[in-house]
Amino acid sequence: MPRTKPSVAVLYNHVDEDEYEQLRDLDPATLPFEPQYDVHVATVMEEYAAIVKGLRRAGFRARGVNLADDLRALERLLARNPPDVVFNLVEHFRSDPEHESHVAALLDVHEIPYTGSPPFALSLCRRKGLTKHVLLANGVPTPRYRVLYEPSISRRHGLHYPLIVKPAREDASAGVERDSVVHDHAALLARLEHTLAEFTGPALVEEFIEGRELHVSVWGNDPPAVLPIIEFDFSALPADHPTIISFDAKWNPIEEVFHQVSTICPARISQRARKRVHAAALAAYRVTGCRDYARLDLRLTKGDHPFVLEVNPNPDLTEGVSFMESAEEAGYTFAAALKLIVDAARARRPARAA
Ligand SMILES: Nc1ncnc2c1ncn2[C@@H]1O[C@H](COP(=O)(O)OP(=O)(O)O)[C@@H](O)[C@H]1O
Ligand SMILES: [Mg+2]
Repeated sequence: MPRTKPSVAVLYNHVDEDEYEQLRDLDPATLPFEPQYDVHVATVMEEYAAIVKGLRRAGFRARGVNLADDLRALERLLARNPPDVVFNLVEHFRSDPEHESHVAALLDVHEIPYTGSPPFALSLCRRKGLTKHVLLANGVPTPRYRVLYEPSISRRHGLHYPLIVKPAREDASAGVERDSVVHDHAALLARLEHTLAEFTGPALVEEFIEGRELHVSVWGNDPPAVLPIIEFDFSALPADHPTIISFDAKWNPIEEVFHQVSTICPARISQRARKRVHAAALAAYRVTGCRDYARLDLRLTKGDHPFVLEVNPNPDLTEGVSFMESAEEAGYTFAAALKLIVDAARARRPARAA
């Protein structure tokens, strides 16, 4: 009997308008600078569709399923035509990113294998202060920090300037801007006040690590492996802009900084640095309970000391970017990399369904 292809449901939650949709009609010639990259960035819906297509190329029967803020969509999927695996791309539900882990928990309760991290890792890594606590307790280097709920901090806080102030429960560079890096107490208080007013949850004050920024993708489970490291080149940024991936540098193609930060893969670092970065990234992946694939954001000092800034379970899978840039450098096509992630999830299939 011919074996049928395994089926994959690409699960996501999309209801709002996509901001990149509005850029469709933008003529790049009207920008007050020469854009380095295409300003017509793919919308999230296009990215979900690209993953469905990639999975089909990889030999799966794949379809996209939008929860659209309605859990009955999940019930219908599981009751009528359950897939062999769910490719879990849900990051929020009813605009609440805390529900990212709750949707994963529902898949667990239904005993359906799904890609990516379990609810615990998703919840933990949304709390940057707690994550750093776990990293430090396990000997993984991360910048010294304080978590603050009020916009006040003694002058003698014991941290060394420059400092960076970030919302402790956001991701994707939200709240990270030019003014996030502060050099004195007055600027620290002002930025704290701003961060606490703009975002829910506490603020994280962290020592600013000068040096290279590295994004390290890790995948697999038994054992996990490190993909080629991405290094960020900040040399085109104006001298008065801190060397950080600010919100605009990451997401806003109509801002000049978006076009002034580029990536180099593999990173140009020594063998010694690479070994230390690999060890820190693997340890961070393991102690936070990440699964299948994740991206660790690190800084590397001049003396080759790595510091983990952040753990990103279920990171962005846009083709050619970030995680997928590293996978490509390692020789995996987009489809082959998606297949490896799905196969990691299928290996967890509950015994009685096998
Ligand atoms: N302690 C730090 N030292 C140097 N740069 C930092 C530090 N913390 C954050 N950054 C910069 O800010 C960016 C965003 O911070 P990150 O902690 O990765 O949060 P997120 O990506 O969730 O917004 C980083 O990619 C880095 O460029
Ligand atoms: Mg980050």
